[in-house]
Amino acid sequence: MIHAHITTWFLALVLFIVALVMHRSGKQKGLKVVQMILRLFYLLIIGTGVWILSTLNSIDMLYVLKSLVGLWVIAMFEMIIIRTVKGKKTSILWIQFIVALILVLYLGFVQLPLTFMT
Ligand code: HEM
Repeated sequence: MIHAHITTWFLALVLFIVALVMHRSGKQKGLKVVQMILRLFYLLIIGTGVWILSTLNSIDMLYVLKSLVGLWVIAMFEMIIIRTVKGKKTSILWIQFIVALILVLYLGFVQLPLTFMT
């Protein structure tokens, strides 16, 4: 399930970039489609994350923190796209996005390395 989790958030990251590129190149219809697929990926990320949590013997606070920061990254994906489409300022959201992404990768890979164990 760890692999599924990594695959889903990685693909979400790619779709997020694709959505922003589509907006820039004026492909609003394509953007809508990518946005819908991206929302499906939010559910898959959360689903695989909760699944991993449910397989753990004991849930340490770090896992809870890791999950909350993961949700923060997802919230930033969504808010950055929405505000970019509306033409509003996104600099504070981008800063939050970078901080949350670095933190989640650090917590996931360095602090809680379950990789290839499950
Ligand atoms: C875009 C958002 C997210 C990113 C980038 C992300 C990233 C990661 C990474 C890098 C790992 C480490 C995998 C490994 O050990 O090899 C991981 C594991 C994990 N994630 Fe996420 N995650 C995200 C969202 C979530 C959410 C929303 C939840 C909970 C609902 C969650 C729960 C977990 C759990 C429980 C683990 C296993 C603990 C660990 O080894 O780190 N993640 N995630």
